[in-house]
Amino acid sequence: MALKIAIGSDHAGYELKEEVKKILKEKGYEYTDLGAESIDPKDDYPKYGKKVAEAVASGKYDRGIAICGTGIGISIAANKVSGIRAAVGYNTEMAKVSRLHNDANVLALGGRVKTDEPVSDILSVWLETQFSGDERHERRINQIREIEDSRLKTKD
Ligand code: RB5
Repeated sequence: MALKIAIGSDHAGYELKEEVKKILKEKGYEYTDLGAESIDPKDDYPKYGKKVAEAVASGKYDRGIAICGTGIGISIAANKVSGIRAAVGYNTEMAKVSRLHNDANVLALGGRVKTDEPVSDILSVWLETQFSGDERHERRINQIREIEDSRLKTKD
């Protein structure tokens, strides 16, 4: 079944977001752009990290792509949403391992960061690599879920 992808960026990631959209289209992926709509710095990265993360956490989208200047701020914001495992992927190795080991459901990229490899390659690897399903990786992801659950409990 075709992956449904939510994509978002702040102003600093806007140009790379447009490039990523073109690449996704060429590769035949379905995506929804959640903004920003320009390079105007009127909205900050937490807003778009949250939008992408909530779109994925809701189950409406399979994966998210979140872009800011470095990918760092927007990944921190996205990771505050329960169920989200956002990983910065500056190269194909990071992109691949984030899927194999961490089952990352959001890829964070940096519009102001020079990558060693074409973004198109990073995207292909990240979108095509499946979670390994290894017991040890599953166990670690469950430990992350436990942190999320304990956080929800302390709110009571
Ligand atoms: C915006 O200037 C920049 O700080 C932001 O896009 C991002 O790089 C933060 O991590």
